[in-house]
This record gives sequence, structure tokens and C-alpha cells, in this order.
Amino acid sequence: MSNTYYVTTPIYYVNDAPHIGHSYTTIAADALSRYYRAAGRDVHFLTGTDEHGIKIVKAATDRGLTPQQLADSVVVHFQQLWKDLEITNDDFIRTSSPRHEKRVQALVSEMVKRDEIYLGKYEGWYDEGQEEFVTESTARDNEYKSPINGRPLTRYGEPSYFFRLSKWVPKLIEHIEANEHFVQPDARRNEVLSKLRMGVEDLSISRQQEKLGGWGVPMPNDPSHSVYVWIDALSNYYTALGLPAVGDEFDAAAESYWPCDVHLIGKDILWFHAVYWPCMLMSLGLPLPKCVFAHGWWTSDGKKMSKTLGNFVSREAIAEICAEYSVDVYRYFLLRAVMFGSDGDFSRDALRVRYNSDLANGVGNLLSRTVNMIDKYFDGAIPAPAPDAIAPEAQGVMDAAGALIDSAGPAMAACQFHKYLDSLQGLVDATNRFIDVTEPFRLAKDASQRDRLGGILYACAEAVRLILAYLAPIMPASAIAGLAQLGLGPEATDLVAVGRWGVLTAGTQTNKASGLFPRKP
Ligand code: MSP
Repeated sequence: MSNTYYVTTPIYYVNDAPHIGHSYTTIAADALSRYYRAAGRDVHFLTGTDEHGIKIVKAATDRGLTPQQLADSVVVHFQQLWKDLEITNDDFIRTSSPRHEKRVQALVSEMVKRDEIYLGKYEGWYDEGQEEFVTESTARDNEYKSPINGRPLTRYGEPSYFFRLSKWVPKLIEHIEANEHFVQPDARRNEVLSKLRMGVEDLSISRQQEKLGGWGVPMPNDPSHSVYVWIDALSNYYTALGLPAVGDEFDAAAESYWPCDVHLIGKDILWFHAVYWPCMLMSLGLPLPKCVFAHGWWTSDGKKMSKTLGNFVSREAIAEICAEYSVDVYRYFLLRAVMFGSDGDFSRDALRVRYNSDLANGVGNLLSRTVNMIDKYFDGAIPAPAPDAIAPEAQGVMDAAGALIDSAGPAMAACQFHKYLDSLQGLVDATNRFIDVTEPFRLAKDASQRDRLGGILYACAEAVRLILAYLAPIMPASAIAGLAQLGLGPEATDLVAVGRWGVLTAGTQTNKASGLFPRKP
């Protein structure tokens, strides 16, 4: 198996500021990246912005800006938010950058050369908010309004270049059938398959340049047309690696990361990623990504988020939550509260309840109990392990630790963050139970029980250490702070070196400190 791991987020439109939906995918990608780095893989994590298309042109015009000015002013909000949320992307691609534009042209030229593109006429409906063509029957069913945002559809009738999409569909169906992980979750895979089996037409992949005021990537074979924004945008996953080489300083810079391990996206943009993108790659003779994973949507306080309802979890709301709790708590809640793939509802109440139950009463309480007892009974030095003396009560802790270690890899490989965190919680609960059953505070009163007491506290410290090490991809700062209380540095998040039982050295000096997750009323 290749040691590289390449994960991407969608590139976000710059017509508006970032919100919870954007942060969700980006945090998920960050958790995967941090996990795989800790597990010894060579990780490449890409995010960026989608800056072309009619949607951006219109948003810019409304604000009295050029599209470039709009993009330049909004991109910084995304970049700042990613910094604030401790996102560790290795690259950030903007589709208006020359490095990307040149490579989109190279890819389209190659498609022209391979006779994958022909000139025709597009006649039909277009959803400008989604940058998407809408069939006559869907348009009619939705009263000629966008099925997504309710705005009127626009009628397009113009010469256009088409990609021979339909020709690749049988091969794509075969690929999806043969590779059960290619489109995930399963329900989405079935949806894509059944829609594909109903038949797919060729795809219009160009717009008249004049309609876009010159904003976009010119078709290399006919500069009076621009490349359709989705063809331009999807290419980013490949162009960002410096591919294909076009004779600039980015050439093949990160070539070894292709094919991508996982494209994380929201369910609304699955068709583009599961159909257009792989067919484009097939037409170019390039390897396909290994997985396209579509997550669900967040509602807020039980309703679809909208500016008019005022229930939008905006950049400002995210900042408020992070100030009240912490960045880590926001990251934890998004990945723990709903199964990745399903829809979820965001509310401050749900966040507080989850915080108190899992973090304050769970791992936070376990860490402070453990460090306090080691401080009190062993002057803060981790006691020696004594596995024989503490059996059989410790069996539950050992089993839960084993379950966490064994299930972490498969859970991350399937983007099942809630399962990963479930096993982590399993070890927290088992260790808290262990303390309740063995009653170290009682043993401490009996000098003949000293070895047994030490063995029990060693097991607790070892369990907390593992919990924090495995928590680090999701809650990096809290994990480091917690490990420091056990007398360990950031290297204690390296799962290859320390992701197993029995690593703590007796005598390590702990550092009692205030609680990691104080209870919130
Ligand atoms: N620019 C395209 C993607 C091109 S990728 C080659 C785009 N951008 S977007 O900014 O509109 O949306 C980006 C992502 O945000 C999508 O994956 C979408 O699913 C996600 N979300 C937007 N609102 C959301 C929620 N309320 N909840 C969860 N995710 C949502 O589409």
C-alpha cells in the first residue's frame, strides 16, 4: 500500500463568507489529516476557493466590485477561519490563480485532442445559484425555480462545447459497482447508480465569455468561450498537485499524491464529484480517486439555515462558540454529534449537553481524578505498573483500550468519526468504572495495598494517555494540554510510537493543573 494519503475539501465559493457548513468539511478533513500523520502516513491536505462562474460575477456586480476584487476580499475570511480552527492544510488553491488556470487549459486541450469535446448548442434551464443545468422535467416540477434555493431558473440558448459524458457512463457504472467504497455512504452510492442507469446526456462545458465579462478560464481551442465553472473547479484536485506539467515552478510539485484517497464533500454536490469528475479523468486516461464521501447537511435549531430566519451559524457565531468553549469543543461537537453522512441539527443547547456529558464529566473528570490521586498518593510520580495485582478489575480497561486501538484505523478509513469517538468514550467510561470499583481512595489508607494502588493508578494514567493521544486529531490543543498534565510532550500524540498499551514510564512527573473541561451550567 502506498504510504501517501491525499484528502481534499470542496473549494468554496467566494460569493459569501464562510459558515458552519464549510467548517464542517474542513474540520473533518483536518481530523483525517492529523490522524494519518500521527499514524505515519505522508499526508497531503488540500482546500481552497472556487472563484469563477456566473454566481461570483453577479455577487461582485451587486457589490460594485470586480470578480477579482470580490474574490480577494472574501478569500481572506476563509483563510483566517482555517487558521482560527487549527486547520493544517498543506496547500490552498484559488481557481483564479495562474498555476490553476494554465493547467485547466492543458487538461481541456488534452480532452480536445482526444476528441472528447465537440461544438454544439445548449438549449435549456440553468440554476445560477448552483451553477448547474436543470432538465426540463425537473424545471417543470419545481415551477421553473431552483430546487435548492427557490430562485427563478435562467433560460440558456447558446453555442457551447460539449464533453462526451454519456460515452463514459457504462464504464463509470462498472467502476462504481466493482468498488463499493468509491462513492460513500452506501445510500448515496445507490442513488448515484440508479440515476446513472436512467441515462445521462453529454455535458455542456463552456459558456460564452462575453456573458461572464471575461471572468473564467478561456477554452484553449476557442477563447470566445470560458470553461464551465464546474469543470474548472473539479480540476483543482489535480492541478493543485502541479499536474499536468506546464513549464512553471509548480510542475509536478506533489505528483505522488495522485490518485486522491478521499474527496470530502456535501451531499448537494455529489453528482459533480461522482459522475462528471471521474468521467473527465477517464477521458484523460488518468486514475480515479479512491473515494468520494458525501456528508449530510446541518440545520440550525431544527430549521434550514437561512439569513432571513437569523438562525445562520455564521463565522461570527462560530467565533462566539469558540470563545465560550474552545475551538476544540466546536470541532469535537461537529464530528461527534451526528454520524458523518447523515444530516444533523446544531443548537447551543445540544452543544452544552454534549460538552458536559462527554468532556467535562468524561475525559476531563477522568484526567483530573487520575492526576490528583497520583499527586496525593505518589507525590506526582507515575507509579509502577502491577498488572497481576490489579486483575481482574483492569480487564475492562484493557479490553476498551484494545477496542480503541483496533477500531481507530478502520473508523478513520471509513470517515466514521462518531464511531472513532465512541470507542474513545468506551475507554473513558471503562476507566471511570474501574476507579469506582477499585476505590483507590480506600486502598490509600492501607499500607499493605501500596503496590495494588500503584498498579491501579498506572492503569488509569495509561488509559488517559491513550485517550488523549487518540483525541489529538480532533481536539489537538486540549490533547496536548492534557498530556502535559501527565508529564508528556507533544510527541505523545505520535500514534506509531505510542499508540499502544504500556508505554508510560514509571517515575514520570505529572503536572497537576486546572481542569481541561470545566462544567458549564
Ligand atoms: N464551489 C462549490 C464546490 C466545488 S468543489 C470542486 C460549492 N461551494 S459552496 O461554498 O457552495 O459549498 C461548499 C460545501 O459546503 C458543500 O460541500 C456543501 O455541501 C457545504 N454546505 C453548505 N451548507 C451546508 C450546511 N448547512 N451543512 C453542511 N454542509 C453544507 O459548492
